[in-house]
Amino acid sequence: MVHWFPGQMAKTQRLIVENIKMVDVVLELADARLPASSRNPLLLRLTEHKPRLLVLSKADLAEAPLTRQWLDWFRSQGEAALALDALKGGREAKKELLESIRELARNVMQKRKQKGIINETVRTMVLGIPNVGKSTLINFLAGKTAAEAADKPGVTRGKQWIKLGLGVELLDMPGILWPKIEEEGVGYKLAATGAVRDQVFDQVEVVCWLLEWLVKNKPGRLANRYGLEELEDHSNAGGMLARISSRRGYLRSGGEPDLSKGAAMVLDELRGGKLGAITMDLCRPRSDSEEKADGEGGDE
Ligand code: G4P
Repeated sequence: MVHWFPGQMAKTQRLIVENIKMVDVVLELADARLPASSRNPLLLRLTEHKPRLLVLSKADLAEAPLTRQWLDWFRSQGEAALALDALKGGREAKKELLESIRELARNVMQKRKQKGIINETVRTMVLGIPNVGKSTLINFLAGKTAAEAADKPGVTRGKQWIKLGLGVELLDMPGILWPKIEEEGVGYKLAATGAVRDQVFDQVEVVCWLLEWLVKNKPGRLANRYGLEELEDHSNAGGMLARISSRRGYLRSGGEPDLSKGAAMVLDELRGGKLGAITMDLCRPRSDSEEKADGEGGDE
């Protein structure tokens, strides 16, 4: 089981609430490989009165048809959503994002105008769980020099607004939320994809879970990458990891397979996309109202 200790969560939450007051549109980042598991329902509470754009990051590492299904589903729930590879980026992707932000801010802008406030600037902020790609998104939108990752809760910096174009400004500070780990599977998925720091979980345990999950949900992937026969005894994940470790030459001095090194390698390869694009959230996500009802019952 993966354990996660949220540490300075209350402090960071306060910081987010303070900063959200200043923005017109919230950019919520989730991992395209985990469109449900990498979201935190707390965000709904924190951003209740703000228009929100859900950006599925790392779309290059996820399965495109499943990403499309997820986007359709989010949109059917009334959520504005798009998917992005922030490393490749490109002008078109940036333009699409900025236009979506402006579109979401339309009502706010109109109200402002009615009040006689002449201000066409739309202010936005990036929120999401650790390692989901917040700093990369800020860099993509703002240019490499503008943003520096201040990915530590409680880090105080002067507030900087960066002009992005189309009259959109971005707060140069990502808001960090922690993933909500209720089910064991969610914890394993977050650990496997790198959302949870490697130091807080047992890599061998996570990789054993991952291998079983891959055999069940993505047949052929292990055979392709590691030459494991599909019909081998897959109920024995430890055995599979041992064979993978041996085949890659990760051996202890006595010739036994080095499972720790093998597990670290598998995680590295999964995260680097060497096992192919993989979307790990497969089942129907929970609806907004379900999340809200859950959020009202208390968080974390
Ligand atoms: P954070 O601020 O939310 O914590 O995330 P950050 O931008 O630091 O990104 C975390 C890792 O994810 C980085 O890898 C980054 O390059 C990668 N990443 C972000 N967006 C994308 C994307 O759209 N596609 C792909 N393929 N990768 C993306 P890293 O520097 O190697 O860091 P790490 O993985 O060693 O933590």
